[in-house]
Order: sequence, then structure tokens, then C-alpha cells
Amino acid sequence: MCGIVGAVAERNIENTLLEGLKRLEYRGYDSAGIAIINVDNALERVRSVGKVKALETALKQSKLTGKTGIAHTRWATHGAPSERNAHPLISANEIALVHNGIIENHDSLRTRLMAEGYEFTSDTDTETVVHLLHLHFSRLGDLLEATRATIAELQGAYALGIVSSRHPERLIAVRHGSPLVIGLGIGENYIASDPLALLSLTSEFIYLEDNDIAVITQKDVQISVDGKTVQRKIHKLEIKNDISDRGEHRHFMMKEIAEQPQAIAANLDGRLGTKHILESAFGLKAKNIFDEIKHVQFVACGTSYHAAQVARYWLEGIAGIPCAVEVASEFRYRKTVVQPNTLFVCLSQSGETADTLAALRLAKKIGYASTLAICNVAESSLVREADLHFMTRAGAEIGVASTKAFTTQLTSLLMLTLALGHKHQISAEIEEHLVTQLHALPQIAAATLALDPLIAKLAIKFADKHHALFLGRGALYPVALEGALKLKEISYIHAEGYPAGELKHGPLALVDKNMPVIAIAPNDDLLEKIKSNLHEVRARGGELFVFTDSTREVGENSAVNHVIEMPHIDPILAPIIYTIPLQLLAYHVAVLKGTDVDQPRNLAKSVTVE
Ligand code: M6R
Repeated sequence: MCGIVGAVAERNIENTLLEGLKRLEYRGYDSAGIAIINVDNALERVRSVGKVKALETALKQSKLTGKTGIAHTRWATHGAPSERNAHPLISANEIALVHNGIIENHDSLRTRLMAEGYEFTSDTDTETVVHLLHLHFSRLGDLLEATRATIAELQGAYALGIVSSRHPERLIAVRHGSPLVIGLGIGENYIASDPLALLSLTSEFIYLEDNDIAVITQKDVQISVDGKTVQRKIHKLEIKNDISDRGEHRHFMMKEIAEQPQAIAANLDGRLGTKHILESAFGLKAKNIFDEIKHVQFVACGTSYHAAQVARYWLEGIAGIPCAVEVASEFRYRKTVVQPNTLFVCLSQSGETADTLAALRLAKKIGYASTLAICNVAESSLVREADLHFMTRAGAEIGVASTKAFTTQLTSLLMLTLALGHKHQISAEIEEHLVTQLHALPQIAAATLALDPLIAKLAIKFADKHHALFLGRGALYPVALEGALKLKEISYIHAEGYPAGELKHGPLALVDKNMPVIAIAPNDDLLEKIKSNLHEVRARGGELFVFTDSTREVGENSAVNHVIEMPHIDPILAPIIYTIPLQLLAYHVAVLKGTDVDQPRNLAKSVTVE
């Protein structure tokens, strides 16, 4: 995902921009660049392919000195990763622009701008914006007016940072669909895709809203919408400067659970239109490949495997695409039958899990149509070796227990379902509905986190137990497995996840007052079925903890029947939201038991050996 940084100051801002880019590295990118208005009021630019380090080296040779500038890390969508496609893009040596998002009508704009005499030097959609802006600027003579005229013609999602050699004291920022914040300094101001980029400079931020245009100078910020000035709240962020810092939290795990609304928002950023998933969401090569896919094979380990299991319900149930899921350590050692036109998808937070990597290497030899890595670490082996990759953008996950990596994997998998479903049974209506639900997801995740104090109290009931049973049905069954895994890995309580319908085929024998039973029961088609299973548990004296948004349906709260009311969520997205309280439960039980929450015994974050 592209990252934007910009600054207007009284001092040379080259290092400020570079530092900001480094802090955005976690987002995943393939090239980087900086443009600065120099002391002679001329635009100067340096770009390079690869890491920010490469840009830093290039800047040692061609030092840029100036007080106003923009910088960018690019994750290629339109045009391969290359220096010529890296941002900032420049028009007529007068305007430089950085962009995060997708311009959907770039083809028609390009044709028109070429007819106007503009020469394109990149394959990006972004270059159409900078030339269009220059066209309007040369006609209107005012950069702000020209920006307004330009965005009136753009379709798609974009956050823009703009500088012009004709206004060296000014930085313009635009937000439409892709995030952008303004950082307020002392005698200097900044912009960035993420406040993290600016935390060493300021803790005061303005979050731009859609359609805001901000004109930023060293001492002033003016924001307008459709030509009318608007006031936006200044937020004081308490987040610490260091991204590997636990911040206000006692453990990384809790910090990472709490980060899920932002992580999900980052995951969705620039990938969804208003009605559909953007064609470029899975990268340039994906569309042609996806059009031919008739089956999907998922391979992963641990939590990532649970995410893949949820995806099977979505791909078969929503898109009608046959789908198989297997743990990597099994897949790699057995003979499999590869169906024609099968996409091999490997999921991994780290991208370095030995079994998953071996499974990918095997898959590349045995006839899969293509391979896709869904991963959280941009530079990992899995990402480098798969034909296609899709970054989950959860940000660094330090706690061994995977939390935000899982919910962002699920969000990615729902987008994969939409992307693959185009050629199958997903109608425009269903797609629009799910896209709307996805847009709302970060807020619902935030509302779910408000359950934390209640869950912390319930955790007391688990601290002296030796076993726990998690029940779910349909796509909530893998969530039950994930809830059990979280509890066992950090609290060392033996826990099992079961499809609720299997209860009377064995595990019911274990149920008594010492066996807490956790049921995941959103208001979906299977609610009636799971209610019967709850009766079976109650009848045997089991203590029930029911997570549901239909509290009246599942029975009253009592000493042995704890009903936890969840925010309302569309049943299809319930696996993402219902995971959060289970993470919180495991966390609080582990804290009560005094285990090493972030580094539980015998476990490692990245399992690089078999
Ligand atoms: O990095 P990966 O997603 O490939 O890791 C797979 C598992 O090792 C991992 O999910 C593990 O199960 C977690 N500790 C679970 O919280």
C-alpha cells in the first residue's frame, strides 16, 4: 500500500521526509521517492526501486535541500515497480504529486490529456492526475481552484499530496477514500497516510474527511469542501513514538487486539470502491488469472489455517467456487490430485513458516494454475516466491498469539471471495451489500472492543479451570477452533473447538460444572440449531458463555448462563467480529494465570523449522 509523507517547514525537510517513509515501511511497498522545492524554487526529485534504504543511498549522491516537499512509498497497481513509475509524478517541471489509491477513469483521462499534448513518462494511473492538475492550473492560474477542478473529474479512491514550484510555501492535501492526516508542528506542518509516520515530530493530528482539500503552510492549515471552509477537530495522539513499543498496554497482545479497527481499515484501504472491489486490489496480474480459476486450494498453519477454513465457507457459500483447505505440514507430504484451473493460496502472518513455504514450493511444481500468498510481511519468502501476493497490512505483530493478523486475513479472504466471485455466482447486488458491510467493519470492531471490561470479569471464571470447550456452526466453527487455540497457547488451559452439531457425538461426555462451554451464536440461519446444542449443555449442568446479538433468543443471563451481547453484524462477516471477544477472553485468563502472554512457553512467533 502506498504511503505519503509531506512537510512544509522553515528548515531543510529531506531527513524529515525520509524518516517518515521509514515509519511507513510496514505497509509494504516496492519503490520510493521524494520531491522537494529547492532554494531556487525549482522542483527536484529522487526516486528508486526497492527499500527506503536505496532511496537514502541515492539521496547521498543527489542531495535535496528545500523547505517544502512530498515523499512516497509505492505499492504498484498500475505499472510495474520501477523508477519511472515511482512517485512523486511531475508535470511540466511545475507540479509534483503523490497518490495513494486508484484512479478508475485513468484510461479516458490519459487519452484526453495526450490529445492536449501531455507526454506520459509512466504507466501509472496517478500521472493522469498530475497532468490534469497542470492543465487546470495553466487555465485557472490558481492551484487551489485547479485542485478542485481536477478532483471533480476523478473517479476512484485517492489521497493526494501536491507541491508546486510556483507556490513554494504551500502544500496541498486531498482526501477521497484513502486516509490522510495532517500533523501540526511548531512553525511547521506535515501530512502522512498514517500518524505513525509523524510520531517523532508531533502528537497533534487532523484526520481529513472525504472530499477535504487542505492548504498547508508553515503556520496555517485551511481546509475546505466544495469551496467552503470547514473546521476539523485536532486529535491528540498518545501513541508512543516507537512502533515496537507496547504503548499504554501491558502486553503487545493487548495492544495488537486493540489495534484491530485500524488494521482492518488499513487492509481495506484503496481496495474497495463504493459498490465493488477494485479490479487492481489483488495486483496487476491477478485479473486475468482470476478469470480462469475454477477451484481454490488453501494451505496454512495454526491461526492462518483457521482463517483459510472460514474462507471455504465464503468461497463455496457465496461465490460457488469449490474449495479445499489443508494444514501445510500434511499437504506437503501427501500425494494430491490437482484439479485444472486451481488457484493455490497460502496464508501466513510471517511469510516464513517452513511448512507453508515448502507447500508453496511444491505447489509451484505440480500444476496449479497460479499461486497467491496472503501475508503480513512484505519482504518475506512467501511473498517473494508466490506468483501473486496480497498484503494484510496489519502492521508489525509482536505477540506470539496471532490476533490482528487473523482478522485482517479474514478481511482479505472476504475480498478474495468477491474478486474470484465475479466470474461465478456473486451478483452485483450481493457484492455491493458486502462492500458496504466491509466499509463499516472497522467501526464495528471498535464497538466490540468496548466489551473488554465485561470479558475481563468473565475471565475470572476460567482461571481455575483445566479445560474449556468452544462451539460454533458454519463459518463460526473455525472461529471456535481459533478461540480454543488462543486460550490454550497463552493460558495453557486445554481447550478444544467443536462444530456444535458434533457435541453429542462425543464431547458432551466431558460436560459438567468444571467444563466452561463457550458458544458463538450470531443471529444467522443456524441460530435455532445451536440453541438446541445449548440446551444439551445446560441439561448436563455445564456453565455456558454465549456470544450473540440475539440475547432474547438464547436465554436469560444467570449464574451458569452468561450471555454476552455483541454489536449487530451481518452474519457473513460475523467470523471477523466474533473472534475479538475470544482473543480478549484468552488474554485476560492468561494475565490472571500470570503466564508469559507475549512469549508463551515453547512457542515462537515465526516457525521457520519443520
Ligand atoms: O506466520 P504464520 O501465520 O505462518 O504462522 C502460523 C502459525 O505458526 C501461527 O498462526 C500460530 O498458530 C500462532 N501462534 C497462533 O496464535
